[in-house]
Amino acid sequence: MEKKANNRVHVLVIPYPSQGHINPMLQFSKRLSSKGLKATFATTVFISETMKPEVLNSDIDFDTISDGCDKGGFFEVGSVDDYLVRLQAVGSKTLTELIIKHKNSPRPIDCILYDAFLPWVLDVAQQFGLVGIAFFTQACAVNYIYYYAHNGLLSLPISSSMTPIGIPGLPLLDLRDMPSFIYVAGSYPSYFELVLNQFSNTDKADFIVVNTFYKLEQEVVDSMSKVMTQPLLTIGPTIPSMYLDKRLENDKDYDLNLFKLDSTSTCWLTTKPPCSVVYVSFGSMANLTIDQMKELARGLKQTGFHFLWVVRPSELPKVPHCFIEEMGDKALIVTWIPQTEVLANEAIGCFFTHCGWNSTIEALCLGVPMVAMPQWTDQTTDAKLVEDVWKVGVRVNVREDGIVSGDEIERCIRQVMEGEQGIEMKRNAMKWKELAVEAVCEGGSSDKNIDELVSKILARCK
Ligand code: UDX
Repeated sequence: MEKKANNRVHVLVIPYPSQGHINPMLQFSKRLSSKGLKATFATTVFISETMKPEVLNSDIDFDTISDGCDKGGFFEVGSVDDYLVRLQAVGSKTLTELIIKHKNSPRPIDCILYDAFLPWVLDVAQQFGLVGIAFFTQACAVNYIYYYAHNGLLSLPISSSMTPIGIPGLPLLDLRDMPSFIYVAGSYPSYFELVLNQFSNTDKADFIVVNTFYKLEQEVVDSMSKVMTQPLLTIGPTIPSMYLDKRLENDKDYDLNLFKLDSTSTCWLTTKPPCSVVYVSFGSMANLTIDQMKELARGLKQTGFHFLWVVRPSELPKVPHCFIEEMGDKALIVTWIPQTEVLANEAIGCFFTHCGWNSTIEALCLGVPMVAMPQWTDQTTDAKLVEDVWKVGVRVNVREDGIVSGDEIERCIRQVMEGEQGIEMKRNAMKWKELAVEAVCEGGSSDKNIDELVSKILARCK
């Protein structure tokens, strides 16, 4: 599709304000831009102050709305309930102001691409007659479970007497395989409402896009497409183009980081043999208990493998005393790294992950087998798919006291790093990597869906 220099259709992109939601939507904005649309990416004021874009090699503009917490974001209120109320109230108001500001400019907004976590964005878009595209950030499997719950097709609260749970297109699910907001009844009432409410007005959205690729979740995409009013367009994976089709020039990174990047890991990794390092990260949000950190450190040490461990600044005090010094060159502990670059490094043999959807799909795209230690939200379901459907990893067993022991951690890492099973997981991971590349290359399933979406948007915005 030709890139029109002038009068391009203008898409305003509104992500949910967290790292795991910003990354895929910013990447998708780059895709839309490469297909000829003009994209403006609007984060909250607080996030825009924290995440200064690195040199951005695309023509995406940045703007802001407010969540009512310009000084500290979520941490300013601390309670999820209060934060989400403020986000919607102040977000709707400032989004309205933003649309009006652009209306009176040479480049008015034509269309809004919004995170399905924020259905109120669609309400605002429709007041202005704008085209609305819902972006589902998480795995289609997870979305479909929430769809089931939202529509009363899954009676809640669920209990072990109801297991295994059958949902068309998904493997049979045990309690622990369901998203945590569903199987731990009452654990996060506001988040529970948020994830179910994604479907409160999707029937009014013009288009629905899902951050996955067709062959990865074919059966559930087909099942869910049948029940939705619009077809589901799979448009992922949204990881930087350099690791996939290489068609977006210089698209190597996510560009916006909530934490300060430490680039020493690349150098350290070059001194290590292929497939010899365990990479450990729990994403941008998960907090482990001190006891769990102790067991994790013990397990990693017991394996004898080199490991690269991302410990965010707020988690650092939980690392056992003197552990870093004791491990010497065996371990590198950093606060935030360019994750896709690290996963693509041939020294990495295994990803010890919390199974956030971005981390999971990044590992799949880069052919890295996983040890799954899910913490909450969608991660439990992702872990089930990693182990039993895509067969690219092993999931840890959790003790009755909620802790995963160091011995269990060691056992799982050895399973992936050594022996026949590990080789099989690596082989499967390489297969998913090929299929991910195929999906986004010219003529692939996601590429075709993006072309279809763009041409329909252009037709609507003529
Ligand atoms: C959250 C949820 O927890 C996750 O389950 C959901 O699917 C999306 O939102 P998060 O916990 O941060 O996200 O995990 P994940 O989805 O894996 O996203 C983390 C992102 O940060 C990934 O894109 C990863 O590449 C990036 N990252 C992580 C870095 O760039 N550097 C790091 O050091 C660690």
